[in-house]
Amino acid sequence: EKGGWSSFMRKEVAEQPDAVANTVRGRIADEQVVIPELEALGDEELRAVRRITIVACGTASYAGLVAKYAIEQWARVPVEVELSHEFRYREPVIEQDTLVLSISQSGETMDTLMAVKYAREMGAKTVSVCNTQGATIPRESDAVVYTHAGPEVAVASTKAFVAQITALYLFGLHLARVRGTLTAGELAVQLHELQAVPEKLASVLEESEKVAQLAHWMADTRSVLFLGRHVGYPIALEGALKLKELAYIHAEGFAAGELKHGPIALIEPGQPVFVVVPSPRHPNSLHPKVVSNIQEIRARGARVIAIAEAGDAAVLPFADEVIRIPLAAPLFEPLLAVVPLQVFAMELAQAKGLDVDQPRNLAKSVTVE
Ligand code: BG6
Repeated sequence: EKGGWSSFMRKEVAEQPDAVANTVRGRIADEQVVIPELEALGDEELRAVRRITIVACGTASYAGLVAKYAIEQWARVPVEVELSHEFRYREPVIEQDTLVLSISQSGETMDTLMAVKYAREMGAKTVSVCNTQGATIPRESDAVVYTHAGPEVAVASTKAFVAQITALYLFGLHLARVRGTLTAGELAVQLHELQAVPEKLASVLEESEKVAQLAHWMADTRSVLFLGRHVGYPIALEGALKLKELAYIHAEGFAAGELKHGPIALIEPGQPVFVVVPSPRHPNSLHPKVVSNIQEIRARGARVIAIAEAGDAAVLPFADEVIRIPLAAPLFEPLLAVVPLQVFAMELAQAKGLDVDQPRNLAKSVTVE
């Protein structure tokens, strides 16, 4: 039930620290990942995996895109992300050493279910990430890693998304240990980062009032663009999806490096652009590249709203608004940066008098063709 909240979505956005904490709980012991559900897939089988294909729809597919960066970096195995409906209606190359990883909050999405069934028929191993105990997709998979976000009622996914990334990261770290691609020390560092996320999420939520004000000022906006690089790219896609779903506003997310190959032509004076800015503190940080993208769009009149790390002063001269997120290792930034984008879409929809729990034309889970 909604408790004292005005909408399920508002409640579920606020529950994100718990969604992550509950998904991690009991799964880290002695600085190692412990996921008994994965025992169905032995270490030998996980070592034999040569490729991971992630299948999912909507927000779940963006969780998959975020995880692609992490799993490749940690476990050194190629990962591709496919929309389930694109995957199932062609003849994808699936071999016995392909692991097909499905992501579905409901566990009932027909396209994802059919993709999993196809993969099994082709002899692939299948693992699902799911938020609903005993749902059809986990039953059809060799193993399941449950997200423990609690029931998600609002159609637009929020807490399930951060829980999906969390579960995928646990899976990726487990895989890295089994495959010997991270040292025990490196693994411990990543696990500490993951365990620190709930508290950081709580502090991002404290910025919500500022984001709400921004949304209220922008209630008449007709188009919003979102930019990011690396793990910030899927967050840009998710920010755009949230705005489309909830506020019925035209929105697009781009990889910032792609700007000059087309999208920059869209920039005209006053065009609002959210930019997910990576932390400047890490070696090989993409921060300078993103700042130069901001300068390019600013020079053409864009109204820049930067989501940047606390203390990052380099964005200040170029951004019209800065929303701060706490310090985190690069792969953990998306879990934090997505929150202001969720809040922005929700508040803008609310400012337009729309039903944020039940947007028009959408269903929580699509169990038909
Ligand atoms: C869509 C929902 O229909 O299905 C999205 O509106 C969701 O919010 C997508 O991300 C996938 O759903 P599921 O249950 O497979 O994660």
